[in-house]
Amino acid sequence: MNEVIETLKSHRSFRSYKDETVDERQLDEIIEAVQASPNWANGQQYSIIAVKDPDRKKKLAEMCGNQKHIEEAPVFLIFCADFYRTSIASEMEGQPLNISDDIDSLIVGTTDVGIALGTAVTAAESLGLGTVAIGGIRRKSAEVIEMLELPEYVIPISGLCIGHPAEDPEQKPRLPRAAVYHEEHYNHELKPLLEKYNSMYTQYLQSRSDNNRIGTWTEFVAMFFSRPYYQGIDEMLNRQKFPGGKK
Ligand SMILES: Cc1cc2nc3c(=O)[nH]c(=O)nc-3n(C[C@H](O)[C@H](O)[C@H](O)COP(=O)(O)O)c2cc1C
Repeated sequence: MNEVIETLKSHRSFRSYKDETVDERQLDEIIEAVQASPNWANGQQYSIIAVKDPDRKKKLAEMCGNQKHIEEAPVFLIFCADFYRTSIASEMEGQPLNISDDIDSLIVGTTDVGIALGTAVTAAESLGLGTVAIGGIRRKSAEVIEMLELPEYVIPISGLCIGHPAEDPEQKPRLPRAAVYHEEHYNHELKPLLEKYNSMYTQYLQSRSDNNRIGTWTEFVAMFFSRPYYQGIDEMLNRQKFPGGKK
């Protein structure tokens, strides 16, 4: 096994950080690694906004649902899907802009953000730093857009706390490989695998050192997807001229 694979396979999210800044050179390395990552048609449909100011991080922590780790982390990055530069390119070239009417733009932008976010996580972990992604950035998206002065065609997708870990949490067990990896065709016989995972997951939740609780994986997932998790996503998409919002 090489060091990259070792880093990837050791991943876990960190939600507690030491009172210690992240070296600017390390942050530069992380951003350079992200900029080297693959993206759709080299359009680079993402932007990252770094927030380090303690008062602004405090505000963002509240907006994200009182997630204290945002305040604690010395650096909070906000990853956005971004077609604003595309809109400038279209204007420069006198071409029509078909972002708002093509739902595929949402897939393109969010895929680019996902790759950028994952790359930043691995780059940070390779430097001995800890991270946790923050979907909570979509909880009060209108306020986030205003605070970060996001132009039209830019939407916040995920935050990322980066800092020096102050804890050493256990790795969260993943689904059995056969539930996510298929050969030649999709395996529809998933229920027994999910049941097997439920018992593993319940055991993990009960025995972990921090935030131990009771429940199964299927219970959590079913609960999360039983209703819209964040309100106002439609409005955010409409306001920022993205496709997918209710007209
Ligand atoms: C896009 C995205 C958004 C997330 N949002 C949050 C969040 O708002 N708060 C949080 O504590 N963890 C958040 N997480 C972390 C996940 O809960 C975590 O990655 C998952 O439970 C697996 O645990 P692990 O990363 O420790 O392996 C997010 C992860 C991703 C990829």
